Amino acid sequence: MSTSRYSLPTIALHWLTFLLIIGVYVTMEFRGSFERGSPERELMKTVHYMLGLTVLLLTVARIWFRSRQAYPAIVPQPPVWQHKLAALVHLALYAMMLGLPLLGWLILSAEGKVIPFWGLELPALIAPNEELVEIFEDLHELVADAGYALIGIHAVAAIYHHHIVKDNTLLRMKGK
Ligand code: HEM
Repeated sequence: MSTSRYSLPTIALHWLTFLLIIGVYVTMEFRGSFERGSPERELMKTVHYMLGLTVLLLTVARIWFRSRQAYPAIVPQPPVWQHKLAALVHLALYAMMLGLPLLGWLILSAEGKVIPFWGLELPALIAPNEELVEIFEDLHELVADAGYALIGIHAVAAIYHHHIVKDNTLLRMKGK
């Protein structure tokens, strides 16, 4: 079996992003456990924003590291259609990891709210605009829902390759 792997920064960024995305979804899905306007609910939202913006930052770094390394070969080689499908899903995942945080940033900007980032305050991307808030919120929710399906397909494919096909697909994303 091939020992070729992704570079260490790519592996670290992949699993860190995975943990952050869990946190991003959990903070939003469970915000309803706290009353509207309560400090706990506000904290959940702030953590959601900061983890989501961190995903954006890490994704930019990840694309940069990824562009400097050739795609490590899968052994034995899967059929071409699987490569094409994987490339499509990966592209959609990158679009989601960039698009969702940017949409979130646009929502807060359009609402005229503070954009918190680990003790810093990021600048607004656009001027306050009530009409745009709703459009960005709907898009954010739509893409976030599609994100569950994308992440699910991605994870099922990885498990299928590892346990059924028994190739090195998943091992390429594992540290030593
Ligand atoms: C990977 C990144 C992100 C994911 C997966 C994600 C996911 C979600 C989900 C699932 C919801 C709940 C939608 C609903 O059912 O109403 C939501 C809401 C929201 N998100 Fe994100 N989000 C991300 C990044 C961000 C960022 C970076 C910000 C802001 C800087 C942000 C701002 C918001 C806002 C304002 C809401 C509505 C919250 C409310 O007032 O109830 N999101 N997001």
